[in-house]
Amino acid sequence: MSPQNGFARLDLFTTLPGLAVLPGFALDKEADLVRAVKALAQAAPFRRMKTPGGREMSAAMTNCGAAGWVSDAKGYRYARQDPLSGQPWPEMPVLFYELAAGAAAAGGFADFQPDMALINRYEPGAKMTLHQDLDEQDFSAPIVSVSLGLPAIFLWGGLSRADKPARLHLNSGDVLVWGGKARKFFHGIAPVKAGVHELTGAARLNLTFRRAL
Ligand code: SIN
Ligand code: FE2
Repeated sequence: MSPQNGFARLDLFTTLPGLAVLPGFALDKEADLVRAVKALAQAAPFRRMKTPGGREMSAAMTNCGAAGWVSDAKGYRYARQDPLSGQPWPEMPVLFYELAAGAAAAGGFADFQPDMALINRYEPGAKMTLHQDLDEQDFSAPIVSVSLGLPAIFLWGGLSRADKPARLHLNSGDVLVWGGKARKFFHGIAPVKAGVHELTGAARLNLTFRRAL
């Protein structure tokens, strides 16, 4: 079934435990989503944050919504203000909220009410090492992840860092949902290959929606 025909229910469950894969779920909104990200980045620019250990992350980040995920020498946390401007993060566009709630429902999580989105920008070579999303208050809410632009390999591990991750190819418009027993599973992104996408240029964008506060 082609993604253009919309989300196919049969594609929901992969062999990857705990992960709902919604191929092309956001494909019809791709251009609007990329436009919205560019507008958000005017107000809260992408920046490469430093890990608590002092290393610059290879993906550039910004946020929208009630809080933003930040990392610096003091650690990882959610902050209500953008440390670059001292201002609140830009509001989450309605388009984002509705997409995330709809994807969560399709992935088995009704009533997901995300209060923020972390927006990652990967240029070729950028990656996200295996990690768990642990800084949110409410682990009963799932994570909804939307891929835009250049393709990438998503790494899907388990509860232990030692679990060998499976590799899942992600294209622009694909959406992932994980929660419940898989909420704290390790995940990451392999280094993004060089390329050019008609909407994003030489970059992959990823929106991750969370219930953070
Ligand atoms: C993340 O885990 O925050 C990002 C995952 C991705 O870029 O797909
Ligand atoms: Fe993550």
